[in-house]
Amino acid sequence: MSELIGGYKRTKYCGEFRGTDENKEVVVMGFVGKYRNLGNLIFIDVRDRSGIVQVSFDDTTSVDIFEKAAKLRNEFVVCIKGIVRSRGTNINKNLPSGEIEIIASDLKILNEAEVTPFVISDDANVGDQTRLKYRYLDLRRPSLQNILMMRNKISKITRDYMDENGFLDIETPFLGKSTPEGARDYLVPSRVHPGEFYALPQSPQLFKQLLMIAGYDKYYQIARCFRDEDLRSNRQPEFSQIDFEMSFVENDNDVMEVAEGLICRIFNECLDMDLKVGSFRKLSYFDAMENYGSDKPDTRFDLKIKDVSEAVAGTEFAVFKSCLENGGSIRGINAKGLATKLSRKQVDGCAEFVKGYGIKGVAWIALKPEGTTSSFLKFMTDGETQAIYKAMDAEEGDLLLIIADTKKLVLDSLGGLRRHLADTYDLYDKSSYDFLWVTDFPLLDYDEEAGRFCAVHHPFTSVKAEDIHLLDTDPGKMRANAYDFVINGEEAGGGSIRIHDHKMQQRMFSLLGMTDEDIAERFGFFVDAFKYGAPPHGGLAFGLDRLVMLVTGTDNIKDVIAFPKVQNASCLMTDAPSLVDDKQLSELYLNIKK
Ligand code: AMO
Repeated sequence: MSELIGGYKRTKYCGEFRGTDENKEVVVMGFVGKYRNLGNLIFIDVRDRSGIVQVSFDDTTSVDIFEKAAKLRNEFVVCIKGIVRSRGTNINKNLPSGEIEIIASDLKILNEAEVTPFVISDDANVGDQTRLKYRYLDLRRPSLQNILMMRNKISKITRDYMDENGFLDIETPFLGKSTPEGARDYLVPSRVHPGEFYALPQSPQLFKQLLMIAGYDKYYQIARCFRDEDLRSNRQPEFSQIDFEMSFVENDNDVMEVAEGLICRIFNECLDMDLKVGSFRKLSYFDAMENYGSDKPDTRFDLKIKDVSEAVAGTEFAVFKSCLENGGSIRGINAKGLATKLSRKQVDGCAEFVKGYGIKGVAWIALKPEGTTSSFLKFMTDGETQAIYKAMDAEEGDLLLIIADTKKLVLDSLGGLRRHLADTYDLYDKSSYDFLWVTDFPLLDYDEEAGRFCAVHHPFTSVKAEDIHLLDTDPGKMRANAYDFVINGEEAGGGSIRIHDHKMQQRMFSLLGMTDEDIAERFGFFVDAFKYGAPPHGGLAFGLDRLVMLVTGTDNIKDVIAFPKVQNASCLMTDAPSLVDDKQLSELYLNIKK
């Protein structure tokens, strides 16, 4: 039977007790972690979100309390009164409260617990399916509690920082209008408007711009966003953004400065770092792609991509020759010092890895001290070989890995291969941090299938002033006032300076292949708003979940979300999504097509 707390007040959290508390009479409450019954002595660990404290019942404890203590099992919920005593020389150095224990004088069993489906411990080897089914038990684990407490800290720092810098926290609707662009929308049927749907926001983009037009000057929100897209280890269907927008800015740097200030506050306060506003590197999109094969490069390791197309321009080697004749590109990475470290099988593993990108093979050269081995040098002249070495800064000990294909595939696959090599062969300090801006993104991307341009960032992004003249002649070459913030090869955030001119916004929509009717139907309210005085404005959104992942060092986004979804977007605990009854469906005028 469960007992009442009965007027007891908790003195403090279990993990907060120290030697200085000796001889105090205290009350603790929490879950029973470990228990050990030695006959005349019972030890239990009481656990709460702060950590654990040891409680003992001994011959000074009254008989009825001692007998009650003998019934305690893992995860029972208890309230204990007792005196703090030093453990003398028996200190537990692994516990912050390890200098003391509490000698119990009273025990209330507030609730009993059945045997849990798994032991509440970070060390227990339990499958994801079981953990997520009993997420409320999994969440009792200290490591997850620490992550969610860090998430709380990051949110608090964010709110403090944005408030201090004059940003207003304003909520925007969840039930909005579907304006498909980017990911697929989550739709919500309307009961009052048969056949019509709301869409959950993919981001508050339109609303935050409307708030600038409405004169709120600086807005921010920790905003929940919904995107029906394929999930990955850094993607959830619902996630949170630190979203902000500011008026009277027309230069990327104005927004970047605010964003850098927040990043410095978060990392300096959470990880005791010494980051400074203005110290972050900027890399153009072009340089990022050419050197690292990615618009979110991890530059904690070098392994830059080198172009050898020119070095082998006259070659008779069929693979390279036909690649160049077909307008392709030949590039490679120089894995410094790996020639002798990697076995032949491991080199073949690189070719296996890039198959995932649709690449047929990797041409390699291993410059070992005992002699050079290679998959293709026998087809090259000495001059060509030397030219490759020169283009790739090759020296003894290096392993050169070269790919010939279309430029896009070559860059993509080498971008992936450099990360794969660095991760597999520990080529960098995994606990280090690397922050950088990627700037000067192209504004548009040509979608061959759809036969039209689409926005690289979103259709509200402005063109770089120096590229506006390309609008009529070569729109594909225009660069955007857009910037991404990259941490350790993860896109942590992105934003842009927006279009604030009504006619320009119309132009942009029609460049994206929308007719006047399309524009009026989908974005009419938005385009109209720009007719009534829109200040120049810009902003950015950080992925809050990704920032928490980076600060806490986890590579699984599920660890930073209390109740996450699994790969197929379902919740294993609640079984969402689920069928609804016919009455609900008919109220919404819906029929399910089998
Ligand atoms: P964007 O689409 O780049 O920009 O999103 C901003 C940041 O949100 C994070 N993010 C995600 N995190 C977890 N799961 C997802 N499915 C997911 N998708 C995105 C990323 C990303 O950098 N409105 C614009 C911002 C702006 O222009 O101001 C926007 O939403 O960290």
